[in-house]
Amino acid sequence: MTAMTVNERPVDFDMDPDTPLLHALRDAANLTGTKYGCGVGDCGACMVLVDGEALRSCLVTIGEAEGRFITTIEGLSRDRSHPVQQALVAEQAIQCGFCTPGIAIAAASLLRSNPDPTEAQIREAIPNLCRCGVYPRLVRAVQRAGRVVRRRETISAAPAPGIDPADAARAVPGMRGEVPAPEENTD
Ligand code: FES
Ligand code: FES
Repeated sequence: MTAMTVNERPVDFDMDPDTPLLHALRDAANLTGTKYGCGVGDCGACMVLVDGEALRSCLVTIGEAEGRFITTIEGLSRDRSHPVQQALVAEQAIQCGFCTPGIAIAAASLLRSNPDPTEAQIREAIPNLCRCGVYPRLVRAVQRAGRVVRRRETISAAPAPGIDPADAARAVPGMRGEVPAPEENTD
């Protein structure tokens, strides 16, 4: 057994100690908010806080994480109220969202030590890859989150999580059968 604390709960993983933390979190603990991007330390999609430090969980084994305090995106806040989460939404710095959990973790770690980062400091501290290219918005979001941390600004809470799938479907025209039929080929 490999024991650690995940999102403030004690967890024992009955797995090979060489198992990457990423896989233990996703496949055993069902914490799938942490994403598997490259698996080799390049993309940052798998970042989690380990004793407050943003690390790539694909490069950390559970043996190395034993006894440490892990925070995943699910544990950053229960209701998306962390300033980074609110600012990412407010600045529309999320497109497909695949990179977002890792970015939120890296940004939270940065703001903990530096709540007023420059653009250069943000780019250095958050090297995460985003295939959708949200980088300019990301910088604005992190600086805005910093203002919230420094109590210079407030942001309205992000929408409550847990939307019912049926409600979500009703909000998407394409799922109500309203997508126009493709034009017939008249050639
Ligand atoms: S999945 Fe870990 S850095 Fe890409
Ligand atoms: S928002 Fe799509 S990869 Fe970053």
